[in-house]
Amino acid sequence: MQAGKIFLLTGAGISAESGLSTFRDKGGLWEQYNIEEVASLRGYEANPSKVLEFYNLRRNSHGDVKPNAAHFALAELEAAWAPRGGEITLCTQNIDNLHERAGSRRVIHMHGELGKVRCHDCGDITAADGDLSLALGCAACGRIGGLRPHVVWFGEAPLEMDAIFEALAGADLFVSTATSGAVYRAAGFVAAARSAGIPTMEINLEPSDNAGLFDLARYGKASEAVPAWVAEMIKLAG
Ligand code: OAD
Repeated sequence: MQAGKIFLLTGAGISAESGLSTFRDKGGLWEQYNIEEVASLRGYEANPSKVLEFYNLRRNSHGDVKPNAAHFALAELEAAWAPRGGEITLCTQNIDNLHERAGSRRVIHMHGELGKVRCHDCGDITAADGDLSLALGCAACGRIGGLRPHVVWFGEAPLEMDAIFEALAGADLFVSTATSGAVYRAAGFVAAARSAGIPTMEINLEPSDNAGLFDLARYGKASEAVPAWVAEMIKLAG
């Protein structure tokens, strides 16, 4: 079998077994927090400290967690695919860096990255350690108090959409894993792939909101189902 071009979409479930909360599962983040208050521009403008505190908690908890077998398997697939003439596009909705820490080299973070800040004023994006606060200044323009997490909030456009749709349009296979399919634009990728005639598969703990749109589905924990699928793909590619 030819390796081909695979477009992979991942969501919060892939990091669940590393110890990071998902959003919509029982006990998930959106059960504990009001989305509008902590993850929207309106919430930030109303109470920036509260929003920064929410992301500081995320930043602190993310430092302690480690990639799991699913992250490692996708990194292994990327490494195995190029020498076989194939191409992997790994697009994640996750703002953690567990794909990179597992060894994935090119990751599109369509909802941004927790480890970066963006100046609300000049738009400069930089990596940032430590807690975010209103006392911090932008290294580029010097403004104090305008550094926000480099994450996409509700009502904001996801990042890198041109690159994403270009890769999706050229894919031979679309695989969605560990995402509920509840948030557009990512939730619309399966329909876009289908209408372009691209085979689609989901790997999830349970059927996602748009499970009916996938040609194939495998259900199980990401740490088991993803490595099993990757091993099969590498074997098939020879
Ligand atoms: P959700 O919390 O909506 O969905 C998590 C999915 O992971 C569900 O379908 C679960 O069944 C599945 N899941 C949970 N544990 C799993 C495991 N161990 N193995 C495999 N699957 C598992 O998270 P997302 O779909 O990623 O956006 O959410 C999409 C976006 O909504 C996020 O990027 C975030 C959120 O609001 C922003 O903040 C902009």
